[in-house]
Amino acid sequence: MDKQPTVTTSSEPSFNKLGKIAESYSDIHKIHLLDAVRNEWTLETIGYDRAIREHYVGVEICLLHMTNRTEQARKKITFEQLDDAFVDIRWLKHLHLLLRSIGRSVQKLATYYGLPDSAKSIAIESSTALKEYLHANQHLESVLLKKVDSWDAETLNTIVGNSSHNDLHYSLLHLFRLMQNDAVKWEAELSNIPVSAVMPEFHVMVPFENLFEAVNTAQLNVDSYYGEFVCLHQIPEVFAAAANDYLEASIRSLRKEDLSTAFEQLDICNVFLENVVKCQAMLSECLTTAEYHLFRENLGVASGTHSIVIAQYLFKDLYKCFWRELEHWLGGPASMQQNIAALHHGRAENTDVWVAQRFINCAFELHNFYEEWRHQHLNLVKNVLGSGGTKSKIGMPDALKAVYSMREKANHDPALCRLYEARGLSMTTYHIQGCIFQTNASPTSVTSRLDALTGLIARDRFQSVQSYSYCPHKPKAQTRTP
Ligand code: HEM
Repeated sequence: MDKQPTVTTSSEPSFNKLGKIAESYSDIHKIHLLDAVRNEWTLETIGYDRAIREHYVGVEICLLHMTNRTEQARKKITFEQLDDAFVDIRWLKHLHLLLRSIGRSVQKLATYYGLPDSAKSIAIESSTALKEYLHANQHLESVLLKKVDSWDAETLNTIVGNSSHNDLHYSLLHLFRLMQNDAVKWEAELSNIPVSAVMPEFHVMVPFENLFEAVNTAQLNVDSYYGEFVCLHQIPEVFAAAANDYLEASIRSLRKEDLSTAFEQLDICNVFLENVVKCQAMLSECLTTAEYHLFRENLGVASGTHSIVIAQYLFKDLYKCFWRELEHWLGGPASMQQNIAALHHGRAENTDVWVAQRFINCAFELHNFYEEWRHQHLNLVKNVLGSGGTKSKIGMPDALKAVYSMREKANHDPALCRLYEARGLSMTTYHIQGCIFQTNASPTSVTSRLDALTGLIARDRFQSVQSYSYCPHKPKAQTRTP
C-alpha cells in the first residue's frame, strides 16, 4: 500500500503517467501566480475600477481554459470521436454561461459608475485571450462545417428538422449554436464599460502572459477535465479575494455608521460571490465520478480547506466578523429584534432607515450565497466521493460527513442565528419534516443508493487514501480581523 504523501516543499516532486502529483493546493491552482497578478498593479483596494478589473481577470482565465477545451473538441470532431466531442462542447456551453453571468455582473457594476462623461472605456476586444479563443473557435467551426457538409441534404434535414436530444448530431449542433449566440451576448456585455481616466491599458490591467502561465502550467499530460477543475478554482480564487476586500470594507464602513457606503460595498461583494457560486454549480453539474477519479492522485494531499482566500478569510475570519459587527450595529442581542422591527416599520418614511433596511436584506443575500455554495459543494462531494466513510486526501475519516458538519458549524454561528431569529426567518439548509427531504434520506432512495455506490467505488479505487491519517490544516496566514 502507498505511503501517505507528506506536505513538504523540500522533497522532489513526484509524477505519475498523467503528470505531476501536486505538492499543495497552491501548486494545483498556481495561487502564487494569481496573487502576483493581483498585486502587480496597485489600484485603490476597493472602488469601482478594482471591481471591473477583477471581472476582466476572471474572463481572461475563463477564455484561456476555453481555448484549450475548444482545441480538444476540434481534434475529436476531426477524428470522428463525436461522443467525446459532445462532452467537450457541453463543458464549453457551461463556460459560456459563466461568461454570460460575469457579463451581467459587469453590467450591474457599470451602473455604479453613474457619470455620463466617462474619460475612458474598456472592452473585451482588447483581450489577447479572446483573440486566441476566437482563433481556436474558428478552427472548431470549420471542422464542424466540414462534418455538416459531408451529410447529404436529406440526412441534414432530418437531423435539423426531425430530431430530439437523443440524436447526438442534433445535440452537438444545438449546443454549438447556443454557445455561439451566448458569445455574441457576453461580447456585448463586456464592451464599452466606463472606467476612470487613471485606468491603464487593458494589457496592463489584465496581464495576459502571467495569466497564460497560471492556466497553462496547471495542466496534465493527458486530455482530462483537470483544466476545467483548475479553472473553476482559479476564477473563485480571484473573485473571492475581491469579495473579501469589499466585505472587509463594508464592515469598516458599518463601524463608522457610513451606511450608504457599507451597503454599496456589500452589494459589490455579493456580485462577486454570485459567480463564485456559479463556478461551484457548474463543476457539480459537469464533472463525473470517473473524470474526477482519473486525476485524483494528481491532487496530492491538497484540500479546499488550504485556500487562504476562500476557506480562511471568506469562510472563517470575515464571516464571523461580519455577523458580529452587524449584531453590534443592531444594538446587540438584547435589542436586536426590537431595532429590526423599528427599521422594518420606518423604512418608507425615512431614507436612512430605508438604506439600513436594504443593508440588512443585502446581509441575508450574503448568507444565501454561503448557503448555495455549500449546497453545490456537497453535491460535488456526493458525486465523486460518496457516502459510507470515504476518506478525503487530508485523511478526514468520512469526507461527506465532514462537509455536512462544516456547513452545520458555519450555520450555527451565534450572531447569525440570532439575526435569523430576529427577522423571523429560518435557514434554507433543509426542511427536516419536508417530504422530499424524508424521501431522499431513506437508504432505499436513488440518491442514497448512488451516494453509497460512489463511496464503495472511491474507496476501492483509492485504497491507499483510506489508510491516511488525519492531517489537520495549520493556517499559514494571519487571522483577518478588520
Ligand atoms: C470535486 C471537487 C471537490 C471535492 C471532492 C471537495 C472535497 C472537499 C472535502 C472532502 C472537504 C472537507 C475537508 C477535507 O477533508 O479536505 C472540502 C472542504 C472545502 N472545500 Fe472542497 N471539494 C471540491 C471542490 C472544491 C472547490 C471547487 C472549492 C473552491 C473553489 C472548494 C473549497 C473548499 C473549502 C473552502 C472547504 C472548506 C468548507 C467549509 O468550510 O465549509 N472545494 N472539500
